[in-house]
Amino acid sequence: MNLPMKATIVEVGPRDGFQSIKEFIPTPLKLQIIEKLIEANFKKIEITSFVSPKAIPQMKDAKEVVAHLLENYSDKKDIFHALVPNLYGAKAAYEAGLREITYVISTSVSHNQANVRRSREESFDELKEIKDIFPEMKVKFAVATVFGCPYEGDIKIEEVKWMIQNGLDIGVDEFCLADTIGVANPLQIERVLSELKADFSDIDFSLHLHDTRGMGLANVLSALQLGITKFESATGGLGGCPFAPGAAGNIASEDLINMLENMGVKTGIDLDKVLSVIPIIKKEIKPVLTSHLAYVDTTCVVKE
Ligand code: COA
Ligand code: ZN
Repeated sequence: MNLPMKATIVEVGPRDGFQSIKEFIPTPLKLQIIEKLIEANFKKIEITSFVSPKAIPQMKDAKEVVAHLLENYSDKKDIFHALVPNLYGAKAAYEAGLREITYVISTSVSHNQANVRRSREESFDELKEIKDIFPEMKVKFAVATVFGCPYEGDIKIEEVKWMIQNGLDIGVDEFCLADTIGVANPLQIERVLSELKADFSDIDFSLHLHDTRGMGLANVLSALQLGITKFESATGGLGGCPFAPGAAGNIASEDLINMLENMGVKTGIDLDKVLSVIPIIKKEIKPVLTSHLAYVDTTCVVKE
């Protein structure tokens, strides 16, 4: 197998994971979990989202979360970023002190409408405004529903290319391709990435995968062999877009780290520290965890 020496993992549990939990998670508990993830040595953490509290009440404490972390980790500011759906959110993130955002636009017209109540063109217009108003803000462009849409089904590759070209024209800093509803399969990952790399050879795409149908890590393996080295995941395998029917957990950070490290792909992340977060999530949030390692007794070594 053609595997890289190392890979970067972006922890998105505090955003994608928490947004999927209905009951409000108290801010101190959110911070306790994020602080443990920082200790585990994630170099990038999506800590919250600046979205309408009517759309996602769970994220109503975004300002407090950011303020606490920037104050207490002033030497590690570039670890933190937040998702925003519009200019309003970008302004709020900037005022809170963040200099990196994830800006999401769906490849499918209907999911973009359901998620952020805009046409794709309107979303791109606002993205351009953000870049004009905040030139120093790093923008990761999350291209959602690349591999399938809950409303429209299959997505044409030309549509994905149109999205990427728009992002390039606006000058985004990073492209992250998202399988929002976890429908991608490893062969599809290979086909889509090969096509995109042929047209956009200068872009280092990252991947945001969901494990809804159990193909998450197989998709990572497929992508690794095409030179993708950056993946987004959520501790515990929490996650799911509330505006995508049937959406469920992200690939679990602990499963991803475990697979990569066992194959000799270095992540730089302390797996035991990530696992130490699981009992807190289980006890305090009581979600359904799609993670495998969350249910493995890792102290158990079977002897012959
Ligand atoms: N953060 C907080 N409040 C916001 C906001 C933001 N980013 N954008 C708009 N608002 C507020 C407005 O000030 C307005 O407040 P008011 O009712 O007190 O006047 C209200 O929300 C409605 O504003 P409007 O521009 O009409 O927004 P909308 O109702 O059409 O909703 C979004 C659009 C994008 C704000 C909303 O759909 C949203 O937050 N979606 C996020 C979806 C998401 O997080 N999905 C999962 C991640 S991919
Ligand atoms: Zn997601």
